[in-house]
Parts: sequence; structure tokens; C-alpha cells
Amino acid sequence: MSVGEEVILVVDFGSQYAHLIARRVRELKVYTEIVFPEITVPEIEKISPKGIILSGGPRSVYEKDSPLLSDEVFDFILKKEIPVLGICYGHQLIAFKMGGIVKGEKRKEYGIATVDILDSEGIFKDLDKKETVWMSHGDQVFEIPPGFIVTSKTETSPIAAFRNTSKKIYGLQWHPEVVHTKNGKKILSNFVYNVCSCQGTWNLANFIEETMKEIKSKIGNGRAIIALSGGVDSSVAAAITEKAIGNRLYAVFVDHGLLRKGETEIVSKAFSGHDINFKKIDAKKRFFEKLDCVSDPEKKRMIIGEEFIRIFEEEAKKIGADFLVQGTIYPDVIESGRSQHADTIKSHHNVGGLPESISFKEIIEPLRDLYKDEVREVGRKLGLPDKIINQYPFPGPGLAVRITGPVTEENIRICREASAIVEEELENASIENIWQAFAVTLEDKVVGVVGDQRKFGRIVGLRVVESQDAMTANFKKLPWNLLENISTRITNEIPEVVSVAYFISHKPPQTIEPC
Ligand code: XMP
Repeated sequence: MSVGEEVILVVDFGSQYAHLIARRVRELKVYTEIVFPEITVPEIEKISPKGIILSGGPRSVYEKDSPLLSDEVFDFILKKEIPVLGICYGHQLIAFKMGGIVKGEKRKEYGIATVDILDSEGIFKDLDKKETVWMSHGDQVFEIPPGFIVTSKTETSPIAAFRNTSKKIYGLQWHPEVVHTKNGKKILSNFVYNVCSCQGTWNLANFIEETMKEIKSKIGNGRAIIALSGGVDSSVAAAITEKAIGNRLYAVFVDHGLLRKGETEIVSKAFSGHDINFKKIDAKKRFFEKLDCVSDPEKKRMIIGEEFIRIFEEEAKKIGADFLVQGTIYPDVIESGRSQHADTIKSHHNVGGLPESISFKEIIEPLRDLYKDEVREVGRKLGLPDKIINQYPFPGPGLAVRITGPVTEENIRICREASAIVEEELENASIENIWQAFAVTLEDKVVGVVGDQRKFGRIVGLRVVESQDAMTANFKKLPWNLLENISTRITNEIPEVVSVAYFISHKPPQTIEPC
């Protein structure tokens, strides 16, 4: 998308940190786009980046089938003198491509290290002679390519960084994007501002303006329909589209019977004073019939995604809408496996589950380049109420992916009631910095004792996590007495439940949603 002239490309070689690089640079007010090593010269020409960052990655550059940039792309970058910063695998790739030597080391280096900085130019401007950095690598550069100089070393890595100033190429063995690298942000800022000469024009006010223009030019005088779920993403997508095309936007709120407690009322109220055409559809029966006896989470996602789209198609026909607006955000796109180098983790229904035959002229995803915190910021700027902006993210397939068994009245009711208790208790205890908090209805049963009677009852799992952007998450270390209150309320107020468990796994390895 066009968001201004300045773009830094981040080439993702399969690194778990590629997103962090992109986010850090955006924090410096420069727009970033993550692309994959298969990128072609015309694609780069079209974007016309101010600089390129080559990410780390799990492979070795000299292995067969490792992701590499093509020779044409590499030559083009050199010819055009586009500044390059290689990080870890990216650093080794530069050495490998330009005539240096890269080898595997028996002893891998992970964790915090101290490096000697031998340079005060380019990316190392204003750094100390010794810096604390984060290392995570197996391979090393053993010989620099012709025309390069070594700019940093450690006891175990004699070539921990290098540069070729005339070509504006820099390589770093360590990771500046990780918070453990004390001056990592300074290094990235030096690259973006000193080396790439960016001006720092990326901000969300520009984003709103640019996105509105884009929406207007795509939709013209047509009508659009949006799948309003009440979550942050679709609400912000609705608000920005409404600002662009006013009451030619029709917001369809589908109640699939898998919503949180009180959600319908909150959403109806939030959009009641707007220009938007708001329509609520009660489709619970339809969804429950389709989901009957389905336990497999990917099947649930596909069925729900497909049914959603069918309903929208029906509504769009009635309304005469040609365009479908969706609240897809950047992590949804990446995690749905659109990259060849990342595994499909879950098919988020608003992307991966899209049916093939679709009768809209175009699908518009105004937020597809934004991270969640950026989406919230846009929502605030557009004047949406805090109740919508600050709510926990809620997945499109709703409570269906928070029950490990089939979608039944009982499973959904337990999940809904228990989640409401979790939210209430966390709010009463004023616990902050929570990304998501909800209950999970588990399929297994355990023996309980109620009064004097044995009861073979249900288990509810609690998932409360902290996160920056849902790419990784940590379980929240809640006070015991709070967990006890939640557990007591759930077992007292929901008759089927005799046991409450707490998920104490981070992401990875566990994902945030249980299914
Ligand atoms: P996971 O479970 O993959 O979730 O760690 C990461 C974030 O994405 C949300 N999520 C979804 N959102 N449709 C959505 O719109 C989906 O199918 C879906 N699955 C997960 C999840 O709530 C978390 O914030």
C-alpha cells in the first residue's frame, strides 16, 4: 500500500524476530514492510525502498535449498546502492554472496554478550566502545568479503560486524531488534536515519488519510458491507471506512451464538450514533446446525468462515454491495501461512478460511499492514469508545475455538459464563497489562464432590496472557487469591463445573487460543 514515500523492507528468512525488526523501525516513524526472499526486481522497484534489512533465520546460507535472494535482486540492490543491513543470517548472507567465508561453529552462541565496537561510523555512531548485545547463532563469518572492514568483535566472534561504507552495506552478527541489546534501537535508528536518510514520515494520522483516499478510490460510488464482529479490528475497520464513504457502508453484525456475554448490546450501542447502516442478524440456528458434532478446530474455523461469507453475500445482494471490508491485521496475514518460510499455525477465519467462490468485486482490508497496538491507536484517533478499543481481542470464530469439544449449548454457555467471571474479577482486582483473558471449556471430565455426593463434572481452563502483538505471549502470573476467587465463583455459579485449571504455558509453545 502507499503510505508515503519512505519504506524500509524487511526480508524475512524465517526468523522469529522479523516482526520485531519491522515493529522497531515503525516505532522510529518509518514504515516497514515484511517481504520474502523470493521478492523480484520489479517488486522492489515498485516499492522503491529507502533501505533493506535482511533478517535472521534458522538455516545456514551454504546449505542446499536455504532461502537466498536471487543474483538479479542482489545485483539490483548493489547497482542502485540501496542501503542494506544484514542481521545474523542476513549478515552471513551478505558475506556469502559477496565473496566472504561463512562456516558452522561447533559451539553455538546464545544469550547476552559483550562486544567491542571498533568503529564510530554509520550504524555505530554514538555507541560505546563496549556494548551489551543479544547473540543467537550457530554459523559465523570467517572471512570478510573484499572491500569490507571489520567493525566489531567478541572473544569468540572475531567478525561480529562489518561494513562496506561506499556500498552502504552493514552486517551484524547479533540482534539489535531484541530488547536485551541495550543500544539496539540506536543502531536501527542510525541505519534508518544516518545511512538510509529517512525523514520519519510514518505516523498513524498519515495512515488514516492515505487509507481513506485508497478506500474512496477503490469503492468509488459503490456500496460496501463490513463484517462487524464488535472486536477492535472490525470496529476500527468500520470506523475508517465509514469516514471514507459515509452511509454507503453497511455494517452487518452476525450473532452466530458464539459471542461473549453482553457483546451484542455493547456493539449496538457503540455504533448507534454513527452514519453507518447497522444491521444485526440472528444466525445462531444456522451456525449451530453446521457445527453439529464438529470438534476439529480447523474444521470449525472453515465452517464458520464459510457461513459468515455466505451470510454477507446474501446481505450484500439485498443491499447491492460490491465490496466486502474486513478487519484483517498484519499478524493474521502472517500466521495464516502466507509466507513460504513460516508454518501455518492457525487459519484465522478472516483470511485462511475464505471460500474460493466469492461474489464480491473486491475484498478491502484497510488494517492489513498494522499491528494491534497501531490498530488501537487508529481507533482512538477515530473517536471510538474505550469499551471497544481496550477490550481483549476476540477471534472471529468466537467461543467455538475456546471449547475443545463440539459446539453445544452447554459447552458454549460454560465458556461464556466462566469468561464473564474471569473478566469481572480481573477488572475488580485492577490487574493491568493483560492481552487476553478468558475461560476454555475442556472436554475431559473429573470427579468432584458436591455436598456429600460424587459428581463427574466439567473442567474449565483459564487463559490469561500478556503480549505485545500476539506473536509471542507469556501467561500472567496472577495472585493466588485472585485465582482462588475466580475458581470458587466458577464452580459455584456454573453447576456443571467441578474443576478450574490455569494454563501456565507461554506462546510458544502454546498458542493463545486453545484451538
Ligand atoms: P493464537 O491463538 O494463534 O492467536 O496465539 C493469536 C491472536 O489471534 C487471535 N485469533 C484469531 N483471530 N480469527 C481471528 O480473527 C481467528 O480464527 C483467530 N484465531 C486466533 C487470538 O485471539 C489472538 O489474539
